[in-house]
Amino acid sequence: MSAPKHFLDLHKVGAGTLREILDLGSAIKAGKYMADGDTQLLSGKSLAMIFEKPSTRTRVSFEIGMKQLGGHVVVMDGQGSQLGHGETVADTARVLSRYVDAIMIRTDDPAKLDELASYASVPVINGLTDDSHPCQLMADVMTYEEHRGPIKGRKVTWCGDGNNMAASYVHAAQRFGFDLTLAMPEELSLPQEVIDWAVGEGANITVTHNADEGCARADLIVTDTWVSMGDKDAEARHNALRPYQVDARRLGLAQDDAVFMHCLPAHRDEEATAEVLDGPQSVIWDEAENRLHAQKGILAWCMG
Ligand code: CP
Ligand code: NVA
Repeated sequence: MSAPKHFLDLHKVGAGTLREILDLGSAIKAGKYMADGDTQLLSGKSLAMIFEKPSTRTRVSFEIGMKQLGGHVVVMDGQGSQLGHGETVADTARVLSRYVDAIMIRTDDPAKLDELASYASVPVINGLTDDSHPCQLMADVMTYEEHRGPIKGRKVTWCGDGNNMAASYVHAAQRFGFDLTLAMPEELSLPQEVIDWAVGEGANITVTHNADEGCARADLIVTDTWVSMGDKDAEARHNALRPYQVDARRLGLAQDDAVFMHCLPAHRDEEATAEVLDGPQSVIWDEAENRLHAQKGILAWCMG
């Protein structure tokens, strides 16, 4: 039996494969596989989804995506399953592999994702950990390219917390060939090894603690919540991240045709002003929609 095609992180899937997955998602979005008003690419397939953290987009887009491809889902939350009551990740992986064709997990602990993948005989998809959020990046790249063409060689600025999203942006910069500037406070910087990996693989990554400098001439500005799920030190984070707020003045430092993204959920007038989030350069609703399309590409690749 061949090894399952896991989607664990962008730096663990080859650049060519990531591009194929995006192309597949776009083709499905364009209706290329439609027959009788629907596609049956995953007819009869099932996906188990484990949520140990809250979700709106990930939960709904995976469920609807599976249904639109002819498959179905089973949703488990940590506490409502034996996983939250002492059953091991390894045993859960082995049991679920006997029932379903793929497993998606959102968990605080990246080690659980890896353990699940090493014991599952079906593909495992990372639906966010404290370390990364690769599905969101696939949607972000798809969205940028739909609006502005190839992202390769563009200047992308991450302005805010050095969190799971920022790490996936670093992985994506290497895989998709864009230049990434990380404008983030020193005390909330990404682990150096994440940046070192990308730079070692030829990526162009710049780190600055000056948000204006970071946003200057950007083609895409991205930010995220100041307090991620599970973060405890909300007050300290607000204080450290306030100077990185994306407001209209700061967005104005970017290219005239720059777009603004945010993975959502957003907190208006914290990480970005309402004027920016709801303004003409914001593509956040297309970005949210593209979770559905990009993940169809991932699902079809994993199980296809
Ligand atoms: N962006 C994102 O993953 O949203 P949810 O937390 O709602 O799934
Ligand atoms: N950084 C955020 C992303 C939410 C989709 C979090 O982990 O809460």
